[in-house]
Amino acid sequence: MMQDFMRTATYHRAILQNHSDFRDKVVLDVGCGLGILSFFAVQAGTKKVYAVEASSVAQYAEILVKNNQLSDKIIVLPGKMEEISLPEAVDVIISEPMGYMLFNERMLESYLHSKKWLKSNGTMFPTFSDIHLAPFSDEQLYMEHYSRANFWYQQCFYGVNLSSLRGAAIDEYFRQPIVDTFDVRILMARTIKYTVNFLDAKEEDLHRVEIPFVFQMVQSGLIHGLAFWFDVAFVGSLYVLLPSPCSSG
Ligand SMILES: C[S@@+](CC[C@H](N)C(=O)[O-])C[C@H]1O[C@@H](n2cnc3c(N)ncnc32)[C@H](O)[C@@H]1O
Repeated sequence: MMQDFMRTATYHRAILQNHSDFRDKVVLDVGCGLGILSFFAVQAGTKKVYAVEASSVAQYAEILVKNNQLSDKIIVLPGKMEEISLPEAVDVIISEPMGYMLFNERMLESYLHSKKWLKSNGTMFPTFSDIHLAPFSDEQLYMEHYSRANFWYQQCFYGVNLSSLRGAAIDEYFRQPIVDTFDVRILMARTIKYTVNFLDAKEEDLHRVEIPFVFQMVQSGLIHGLAFWFDVAFVGSLYVLLPSPCSSG
């Protein structure tokens, strides 16, 4: 993830350019991985960072912290955010909790859960996300996907007739989102925007997400699916937007 230049550079810019939101503050890094965001927070003048990481990667974060002589500023806490106890409330929470279509991977729930440690006037980086969706038409993508199910056409697969499962296979293939970039010209309607404000949202709000939509079509044709993409905003003294890769399904 650290090698994802767009992602890492945008976080670096968002934190360093908003240094006044970090200077002398106490920060919580939710799902710190190797702790790169914690290092950025220290570079921005943070007094102390609690870096929480559930996986075994926490031990490597600890090595990096020690090797960079920052053990007095970055406290690595191995464990799940939901189970960790902090010695104090924090001014800022930082994290990279976005999955595809924002919600996938369920890390966002841990991000919202972590607000129990946030001071009432505290802030979150990222602060909110706008999800955009629109119907698209892409015959080639549709056919590529459809033809994957041809495996299940076979009537003699090592002597077994698989064809009765082809319908179920097609349903299954089309249930899976396709994570990819796309040309905006395949979009058939004006986009709908749905905002999740991380400062306001509760963990329970993510248990069932409903995005009502009425599309205003801008071209006619066959609709093959719905395209989703999102951006996240870092609302500090300076405002930074992180665009995400698009996904469709
Ligand atoms: C997308 S990675 C981001 C890593 C790092 N913040 C970065 O920017 O490179 C998310 C990390 O969160 C950790 N994680 C996921 N759920 C967690 C939870 N409930 N508590 C603590 N860490 C969690 C994962 O193990 C993973 O290392």
